[in-house]
Amino acid sequence: MEGRYEFVAPCHFGLEAVSKREISDLGYEIVRVEDGKVTFTGDVEALVRANIFLRTTQRILWKVAEFRAVTFEELFQGIKNIPWEEYFPKDARFWVTKATSVKSTLFSTSDIQSIAKKAMVERMKEHYHISWFAETGQEYPVRISIYKDMVTVGLDTSGESLHKRGYRKMVSKAPIEETLAAALIRLTPWNKDRILVDPFCGSGTFPIEAAMMGANIAPGMRRTFQGQQWKNLVSEEVWQRGFEEAQDLVDTSVKMDIQGYDIDPLIVKAARENAGRAGVAELIHFQQRPIHKLRHPKKYGFVITNPPYGERMEEKEDMPILYREIGEAFSHLDDWSEYIITAYEDAERYIGRKADKNRKIYNGMMKTYFYQFLGPKPPRRKRPEQAGKA
Ligand SMILES: C[S@@+](CC[C@H](N)C(=O)[O-])C[C@H]1O[C@@H](n2cnc3c(N)ncnc32)[C@H](O)[C@@H]1O
Repeated sequence: MEGRYEFVAPCHFGLEAVSKREISDLGYEIVRVEDGKVTFTGDVEALVRANIFLRTTQRILWKVAEFRAVTFEELFQGIKNIPWEEYFPKDARFWVTKATSVKSTLFSTSDIQSIAKKAMVERMKEHYHISWFAETGQEYPVRISIYKDMVTVGLDTSGESLHKRGYRKMVSKAPIEETLAAALIRLTPWNKDRILVDPFCGSGTFPIEAAMMGANIAPGMRRTFQGQQWKNLVSEEVWQRGFEEAQDLVDTSVKMDIQGYDIDPLIVKAARENAGRAGVAELIHFQQRPIHKLRHPKKYGFVITNPPYGERMEEKEDMPILYREIGEAFSHLDDWSEYIITAYEDAERYIGRKADKNRKIYNGMMKTYFYQFLGPKPPRRKRPEQAGKA
């Protein structure tokens, strides 16, 4: 399909600015930033590139309509007015895979789903002059969100959520989503020339996401997307071009100092295997090591980590000791910056230091904090012509 369209990228609450920056850096114009989503414009190539390259967004929705509805009749008519025949072939399988409603008159999501489906069928019936659709062809899932009575209708171009990169087969007990880990790394000033350590690495998400950034490995280059099935809308060639662009950009010869530690030897093994699948095994050093043994001889490194937060009641009582150990370990890291995401409310108290910055972030439905203990910037390296003059 030719033309310019609007796409909606749902992202983590509190991290919209990170996704906005990522989308602009990919070359697309931002239309709007709202709680938990960024809207941008582009052609069908934008849909392909957004799916393959964006690290921090949850999916890419192709916005097909936006209208106000306070009654089910208005919802029905609004959905029926959408030219579905331009998107769906006659044999398409189409349905509303998810509906959400916040601060709106229409709130029953199951009714919203079924009424919208009826309206879509009605539109298709009138267009094709048939009364029944076999729906034996490709899938076209639709998502509807209603916020303050404004209905946004989008085709789900991603399918499986974008946090599923395909590398994480083995996970720790409470793994962080890949998209959230990437957004948090992007929130810090870390770059591939700086040391990065995750002392509670679990399945390796932070180190792997950082290594993929450093080696320019696009998060979506090893998976497939729903939109690849839609030959009537996006040609195979455009997808091919997107994957080839991603392939051309990979540079695993980059030198990086990234380390992942965990107390659990089995999870360390799993992290190594996950890194292998992500194509970054050579770029990360994983090792079994408890937090109280964390040391590093160099200065100005970064810790970005997600320690246990006492998920179960019986683990809660171990938290003061663990967070004291974290504080003690950090005190040995000379001029480092440390970033911790945790739902543990007393983290600062037991670490023994107030964070320089703190940000509330929702990890799904769970309220967490991103504590930021900021170290100094490393001194600027002298350029060769200056070095001799001092
Ligand atoms: C919340 S999980 C980390 C999840 C990780 N970010 C991921 O995406 O898989 C916390 C991890 O801390 C590890 N852990 C618990 N106590 C530890 C200790 N004293 N030292 C080092 N690691 C520890 C656990 O084995 C677990 O893998």
